[in-house]
Amino acid sequence: MKIAIIGGYGKMGRWFANFLLKDGKEVIIAGRNEGKLLEVKQQLSVEVTTNNAEAVKDADVVLISVPIGSFDEVVKQIAPYTHPEQVIVDITSIKTFPVETMHKHIKTGLVLGVHPMFGPGARGIANQNFILTPTNEREKTLAQKVGEYLEARGARATLMTPQKHDEMMTIILGLSHFIALVSADTLLSFDNLKQMKDIGGITYKVLLTLVESVISEDAEFYASLQTSLPKMAEVEKLFQSKAKAWAELVANKDRQQFVKRMTALKNKLEKETPDFGKAYEDIYRIVEDL
Ligand SMILES: NC(=O)c1ccc[n+]([C@@H]2O[C@H](COP(=O)([O-])OP(=O)(O)OC[C@H]3O[C@@H](n4cnc5c(N)ncnc54)[C@H](OP(=O)(O)O)[C@@H]3O)[C@@H](O)[C@H]2O)c1
Repeated sequence: MKIAIIGGYGKMGRWFANFLLKDGKEVIIAGRNEGKLLEVKQQLSVEVTTNNAEAVKDADVVLISVPIGSFDEVVKQIAPYTHPEQVIVDITSIKTFPVETMHKHIKTGLVLGVHPMFGPGARGIANQNFILTPTNEREKTLAQKVGEYLEARGARATLMTPQKHDEMMTIILGLSHFIALVSADTLLSFDNLKQMKDIGGITYKVLLTLVESVISEDAEFYASLQTSLPKMAEVEKLFQSKAKAWAELVANKDRQQFVKRMTALKNKLEKETPDFGKAYEDIYRIVEDL
């Protein structure tokens, strides 16, 4: 099976190229920069091309791994060269816009939106989450096959609509990233960060882990997510109003209300998350080793 990866020398493209090569697939990488293509050709011993259309022509599967801002342009470029037996998968971190764009321009071939819920630092596929977003019966059948392929290699596959995916990502990615950014901005208002890191306990290390995991990444990617996810501004306004309410309790030294509200939150969270406390135990073990 031959897989063409558009944007294949980028971070995620390279991750998938590595994974697919190890899985016995033939890979061709397409990109705009000849130097970067040459480097990846030497590193991975793959076929490369600067021509996206060329890469698509004899591939069985096309994997689109380009930034959100380039997606429309790339799909328009490859659409005339896709053929009916082909599968075209995108791995963009949002799903409604890319899936709609593929449906709009790709008239032959079967498309599927996929979101790998991990970054290029992931060691392997085992225990990783993939979200697949089919929109009709043919795509559902394909998603089930892709899901079986992933699960046979130890990953978890979840099917949902592109819209549901994006709504959930507003919280899962958008809110988490926002909290990390605001925390970084707040932390940097203080001195002694180095010493605080040295003496800090687990809770502080967890906060730093969140902050560093976001701040060390590509700002363009995070800006695209914040500005593309649905209702991001509304969720962040809600977060601000909650932060204000909690800050008022503290400023007013309202100990009684603080305890009451915190206990109510704990009880609610215990009810709504069956393995309440497990995430903290898991992260505790990881952060303890840092
Ligand atoms: N990074 C993550 O943690 C993560 C996780 C899950 C999903 N994703 C998704 O994966 C996709 C790729 O992300 P990434 O982190 O790998 O970004 P990246 O490192 O910036 O890679 C994107 C690649 O796309 C190439 N590209 C841009 N426009 C192109 C075009 N017109 N034709 C061909 N290639 C083009 C870029 O090449 P140039 O050098 O020419 O610009 C770059 O190599 C994004 O859609 C992102 O949402 C990312």
